[in-house]
Amino acid sequence: MSISVTWLGHATFLIETENHNILLDPFLDGSPTASAKAADIECDTMLISHGHEDHVADAVSIAKRTGCVVYSNFEICQWLGNKHGVENTVAMNLGGGVAASFGRIEMTLAHHSSSLPDGSYAGNPAGFLLTINNKKIYFACDTALFSEMAMIGAAGLDLAVLPIGDCFTMGPDAAFEAVKLLSPRFVIPCHYNTWPPIEQDAAAWAKRVDEEATADAKVLSPGESLVV
Ligand code: NI
Ligand code: MN
Repeated sequence: MSISVTWLGHATFLIETENHNILLDPFLDGSPTASAKAADIECDTMLISHGHEDHVADAVSIAKRTGCVVYSNFEICQWLGNKHGVENTVAMNLGGGVAASFGRIEMTLAHHSSSLPDGSYAGNPAGFLLTINNKKIYFACDTALFSEMAMIGAAGLDLAVLPIGDCFTMGPDAAFEAVKLLSPRFVIPCHYNTWPPIEQDAAAWAKRVDEEATADAKVLSPGESLVV
């Protein structure tokens, strides 16, 4: 069974399975590069990696309109419920996993920071490892490079999605090292070219990955999909 992964710009992704639409880190209406508007998104599941504006900007509006179930850490779920009336949440924390309607969600380490747009404490930032129909997709989300990525990769990844923007997250060199630790079948770069501080040459990065690592790098334009 195939899974379609669409980059909506920046760090926002829509993962479509036969019966489910999973939205990651919705930042659409305020994003300079988004390929969709928040009002157009249909999803039954939402994942939020951390509290920064460029990952939660449209979370409340989409969660309220769709009634989707939101998976995030405990602190962000509390904020969504207490401050915004989003009650359909599943609170998790680093290293934990839960069964979802479409498969399994594990919350993985991320070395970054996390606070919500109103200054509220947002707990620890995270990545996500999804197991869907026996396929494994890893979203590193906003993070530095860390050696435990090798253990995440040991599970056998069909796809890894990595930030390459530098400045706030891994840059191209660190992300290249991450590919070697993760050894995914496919890798998609994200979190670049949204603003000048994170401008990168994704095609050059993908060429290096294709030539010097075992993964197949796929550079998407906002709105484009990869089927895994
Ligand atoms: Ni961030
Ligand atoms: Mn970010």
